Amino acid sequence: MAKALSVVGVVGAGAMGRGIAQVCAMAGCSVQLFDMSDGAASRAISLMRDDLMQAVAKGKASAEDVVAALQKITAVTTMHAMSTCDLVVEAIVEQLEPKQKVLTDLESIVEPTCVLATNTSSLSVTEIAAACVTPGRVVGWHFFNPVPRMKLVEVIRAPRTTPETVQALVNLSVRVGHRAIVVSDSPGFVVNHAGRAFVTEGLKLLAECTADYYVLDEILRTCGGFRMGPFELLDLTGLDVSVPVMESIHSQFYGDDRYRPVTLARTRMLAGLLGRKTGQGFYDYENKNSTREIESSHDQHLTGSAVWWLTDGAAAVPDSISALLNDAKRARDISEADVILVAPIGGDVSSVVTDLQLDPGKVVGVDRVFGSAAGMTLMVCPGTAAATVAAARAVFAAQAVPTFVIADSPGFVAPRVVACIVNLACEMAQQGISSPADIDIAVRLGLGYPAGPFEWGDRLGPKLVLAILEGLYATFGDQRYRPSPWLVRRAKLSLPLSAPDRIAQPTSVPS
Ligand SMILES: NC(=O)c1ccc[n+]([C@@H]2O[C@H](COP(=O)([O-])OP(=O)(O)OC[C@H]3O[C@@H](n4cnc5c(N)ncnc54)[C@H](O)[C@@H]3O)[C@@H](O)[C@H]2O)c1
Repeated sequence: MAKALSVVGVVGAGAMGRGIAQVCAMAGCSVQLFDMSDGAASRAISLMRDDLMQAVAKGKASAEDVVAALQKITAVTTMHAMSTCDLVVEAIVEQLEPKQKVLTDLESIVEPTCVLATNTSSLSVTEIAAACVTPGRVVGWHFFNPVPRMKLVEVIRAPRTTPETVQALVNLSVRVGHRAIVVSDSPGFVVNHAGRAFVTEGLKLLAECTADYYVLDEILRTCGGFRMGPFELLDLTGLDVSVPVMESIHSQFYGDDRYRPVTLARTRMLAGLLGRKTGQGFYDYENKNSTREIESSHDQHLTGSAVWWLTDGAAAVPDSISALLNDAKRARDISEADVILVAPIGGDVSSVVTDLQLDPGKVVGVDRVFGSAAGMTLMVCPGTAAATVAAARAVFAAQAVPTFVIADSPGFVAPRVVACIVNLACEMAQQGISSPADIDIAVRLGLGYPAGPFEWGDRLGPKLVLAILEGLYATFGDQRYRPSPWLVRRAKLSLPLSAPDRIAQPTSVPS
């Protein structure tokens, strides 16, 4: 039976420690807050007071609850004051040795039943716990910034963490109003692991000169439904933070190509083009007139070109896309066509041209997976004529549909990035890092994607996701795109991606 954790110690009163202390106190716990820097714990309590008063002003908390919570928090000047705590969580500097020292010092202060938690975002919980006499009570409790508003927390079990410890922390997470997901200790846990595909695949598309960075951002926002494109996100985080994280996760997975960053990110970091913080990243934040505009398709007029529509035989054209072609003059047969529209799944335009023996000058690909009235990605092969592209854009402009033109890329842009996100999540489930349901929650709450990867993969269909990855793998011969067995098996068996094995499989983390 997991013990209720009511008296909580927090070591480190920075952004995270302050937030953790605040949510614990609001949930009715007594909290002792310690920081090695003089006055830092008291300053943290005043910042909490300001934050909670704002919540009262916005009607999100009652004044009585806030007063009661603030009375429950004490700034203490030594960790010895934490001797009666049920739980102590450290949120100090992100370095292994200081974290190990805090936990081992605490072992000689607290009762043997006290849970010791670390809020590390990138270190191994296992390695932190290994320094302790009783590693069974050490667990990761990974919150996101700002803690009171980011309602997700990862509870990380190291190989020796006891199930009671995990359960006690899951119970407390729920009490503090957070959604807890249980994760086996592994690089990046779930959220930072799952987030690898979006940015690294965006960078890969840029490195291949598929489209300009701002076009890729626009496609992923307009067609993919992401709140931000990968280059806007990199500029926000700063390449000085993102590049070391990308490199560290890649190396922690022993160089697995799925996590391989592209060199242009490091080159730009070395050039000091870090992002918003330096005024120059992919975008220019100093010169307001330099905003990048995607060439509008509104001035493209129907030229009278005859259009022939081919589905590439793989699937019927969705009605939503057929409707966008209403104003186009239809060629009676392919020999009369000036423009041949194809809709490959997984392959690129060059492959369709070769397979169907088409005239490359006349062929343009349309994204039937993420294309809609909101925006349509058009893909061209090296032989496509400029007049063909203009005519294809005019067809969609006639229906007021913006078009984004990209170079040949198996899986276009949004389907390719989403397929990589789904594949990585499938591999996490395959490795028993977390469950499909928890991975979906983590991705929606922690990364803010429009859907969880399993939910998204099931909506698109496992076979379609697999076809995109196979197309990428066939084109590039790159292990990065090898489909996860979790995905391959479910696609073969026509099962949903979110379906766990009916017979429970052994866990990769025996306890
Ligand atoms: N900031 C984030 O977005 C974020 C998100 C998730 C996890 N984390 C993790 O949370 C931890 C804290 O991050 P933060 O952003 O709050 O850092 P921060 O720099 O804001 O605060 C750290 C605090 O710890 C204190 N401190 C350092 N060493 C100490 C020690 N030995 N004993 C007592 N106090 C000590 C410092 O004085 C400082 O006040 C790190 O492990 C970080 O990786 C951060």
